[in-house]
Amino acid sequence: MASAPAKAILCGEHAVVYSSPAIAVPITQAKTSVRIQPWIQAPSGSVWIDAPDIHLSTARSDLPPTHPLSVLLNLIESDLRRGPLPAFRMKITSTIPVASGLGSGAAVSVAVLRAVYAFVSRPLPLERLNELAYQVEKIHHGTPSGIDNTVITYARPVFFQRGHPLQFLRIAQPFTLVLANSGQPSRTADVVADVRRAWQENPETYQDYFNQIASLVNRARAALETGDHTALGQLLDHNHALLQQIGVSSPILDTLTQAARQAGALGAKLSGAGRGGNLIALSQPERAPEIAAALTQAGAKNVFITTVEAVHE
Ligand code: MEV
Repeated sequence: MASAPAKAILCGEHAVVYSSPAIAVPITQAKTSVRIQPWIQAPSGSVWIDAPDIHLSTARSDLPPTHPLSVLLNLIESDLRRGPLPAFRMKITSTIPVASGLGSGAAVSVAVLRAVYAFVSRPLPLERLNELAYQVEKIHHGTPSGIDNTVITYARPVFFQRGHPLQFLRIAQPFTLVLANSGQPSRTADVVADVRRAWQENPETYQDYFNQIASLVNRARAALETGDHTALGQLLDHNHALLQQIGVSSPILDTLTQAARQAGALGAKLSGAGRGGNLIALSQPERAPEIAAALTQAGAKNVFITTVEAVHE
């Protein structure tokens, strides 16, 4: 049995693909779990996959080679360099909504990698797990920054910048987030590709957006390290405004962030790729139920309240 949490990008999405820093936190309330049992009498390499949340019940051999789970199992076999895997049955369950900006794809990769390596009794250090999960992200998402697989692998708040050593964040005071889904699915790969096109057409304007985001992410880090949630909320609002300018918000995301602010959120923004998917609202703990109700009323789906715990080391 292995699992991996959901994630939320607190600030810096999209710009992070262009080597600006970003901050992400694990959301332990939602997770993907994988249970593996030997499949007695089936030939080596056979895998039976049950994933009721996505209505999948199939033999590995019946999946197209481009299916994310085929890609993942092939990658594991080539990394282990010991031929076909011993036959097993794998049950994947998840409370992370798909295509919502909460990292469901990366969480499946991380949980399956953990479960299979444990099943074949091979140690899998976190650094290697993260590299393998990133390889899968690259196959599916084109040009991912690597932040999603990183925060999910380490299950700790991260300050992430491509090409720089990973930094874990200190969080002075716990904080409350209201997470909500816009009900509009969106494919990260498509939105990232659209931003790339826009950046190619207007490199200076986009570089300026990315620089402004880098600066606010650094200020958000300082706000987290001092526990200044008022400042953090303002920075989240500012980040949403820049994401609107970059072109990744949508009318429903704008309506919902506005509804959260009117209900008393300290700040609110889309989180993840945008266009649809998820948003986050920073809240005082006692205001969170009111904000959650306002979001539901404004049309949000799967609204939940979560606390990001303090981290002192
Ligand atoms: C997706 O969770 C975050 C993006 O910045 C893409 C990435 O970092 O790979 C939109």
